[in-house]
Amino acid sequence: MTKRVAILISGGGSNMLALLRDMEAAGHPARPVLVASNDPAAGGLAKAAGQGVPVAAVDHRPYGRDRAAFEAALLDPILAAKPDILLLAGFMRVLTPAFVTRFAGRMLNIHPSLLPKYPGLHTHQRAIAAGDAEAGCTVHEVTPVLDDGPILGQARVPVLPDDTPDTLAARVLVQEHRLYPAVLRRFAVGDRTPIFL
Ligand code: GRF
Repeated sequence: MTKRVAILISGGGSNMLALLRDMEAAGHPARPVLVASNDPAAGGLAKAAGQGVPVAAVDHRPYGRDRAAFEAALLDPILAAKPDILLLAGFMRVLTPAFVTRFAGRMLNIHPSLLPKYPGLHTHQRAIAAGDAEAGCTVHEVTPVLDDGPILGQARVPVLPDDTPDTLAARVLVQEHRLYPAVLRRFAVGDRTPIFL
């Protein structure tokens, strides 16, 4: 049974696009049913629509600090799409435990560091500042603790002496586009064996 996948984005959606393109392959165990964003101007929405995937946007700003109210509005298009799996891909809003618990065991995120190192923001800047020889990205199950759930995959890249956060981010992003589709292929058939690229 092909799994129905909804993807949440906040920006350009390059990870989302890599996932959509991979799901076009014959025999893929998952298919996209929705791309939704907290930003109506997110560039990824046009990319998803261009791939024929239904899109939705719920601007988080009118809700101010009322995260629960924003999430209640965001849940409308998500639940209407009846996803089996929810993927966060460059989604930049912190989700409440209530929202996360609703999708327990079927929500993944990609984070641009080798977790458990550098949860949160500015991961590349922190890796460079720490003098790390390696950096990378992690796909993990989403749990109520930010950037903390079971790891389903990681990809490593070297940190080069003249790296800036931007040059390192670009190197990691290439690996993100390989890792997330590879993890989804396994996760969609119930295989939680971690992938290390
Ligand atoms: C990527 O670095 C991803 O790891 C992070 O958001 C950034 C942008 O992702 N979560 P995308 O291009 O919007 O997929």
